[in-house]
Amino acid sequence: MTNNNILNQGFDHFKNILSKEETLELENIIDELNNKYSDRIDRCTNANVLLSIAGLNKKLDFYIEKILTNPKINQTLENTLGKNYKIWQINTRISSGKDMGLSMHEDSPGQANIWFFINTQNKPEGVTGVVPSSHLFPRICKKLSLSYIGVSKFLMKPMLGEMGDCSIFLNKVWHGRLPSKKNVDNKILAIGTFCEGSEYTPMPEAYDTSNINSNFIVSKFGLKENLKSTNNNKYQIEKSEEKDPYALQIEGKKLNYNILIKLSFYFFIEIFIRPIKLSLNFLLNYRKSQS
Ligand SMILES: [Fe+2]
Repeated sequence: MTNNNILNQGFDHFKNILSKEETLELENIIDELNNKYSDRIDRCTNANVLLSIAGLNKKLDFYIEKILTNPKINQTLENTLGKNYKIWQINTRISSGKDMGLSMHEDSPGQANIWFFINTQNKPEGVTGVVPSSHLFPRICKKLSLSYIGVSKFLMKPMLGEMGDCSIFLNKVWHGRLPSKKNVDNKILAIGTFCEGSEYTPMPEAYDTSNINSNFIVSKFGLKENLKSTNNNKYQIEKSEEKDPYALQIEGKKLNYNILIKLSFYFFIEIFIRPIKLSLNFLLNYRKSQS
């Protein structure tokens, strides 16, 4: 049975998963890796994302395993995603200086993120924001004009935490990254996962895990266990039990009265925002055609 916060809100927060000393050591390792592999940093989401970091440093692998095998984290993951859940990506994500943010969206079915706070993030700038309970809404976020970050930044609740804390959220929750005008460095160790029963495209690094110093990470990130190859380089995660895990049960779920009330609030905002967005698009296109 998954915990109540994940069931009702679509996310949960866990305090002190690593100690301050451990988190400081992890921060040093991550800073060094971001300098060493600066040419590999992906900036397409307006933050600095260093992809596939497992195997780059022995102590880093140790800490990733320590976070994932923490009894509270492990229990929440297994109860929400099923025992056979898989790790898709292990990245660091640093929002620094001026950050335009990232529009509100949902990700693929069965996806969930583990968000480890490398440093304390107590201001709503450059941090991830979520709309509580939106994992129970239909998948319409990307179609709504209100998903534009200039509007959605007022609708999302910032995910704040102290260094060493960890949040877990279902990626069906409406989420994005809040913009920042200030010079803040928000550092996150992001572990993307898929639940059992779902299908995903592994990262290229998952095909050879010989450099990773943790059997646990290898079993979750590698492609040797509990996977069935489908097509187009995709893999389906075998289920450990008959019923779907909670992360898949929420797909196509019937709306109850409370969710309908919450959803109608967003529709109400959309009624005002959509004509403004359409008018702006029209004006922009008109100016382009004149120049
Ligand atoms: Fe996302």
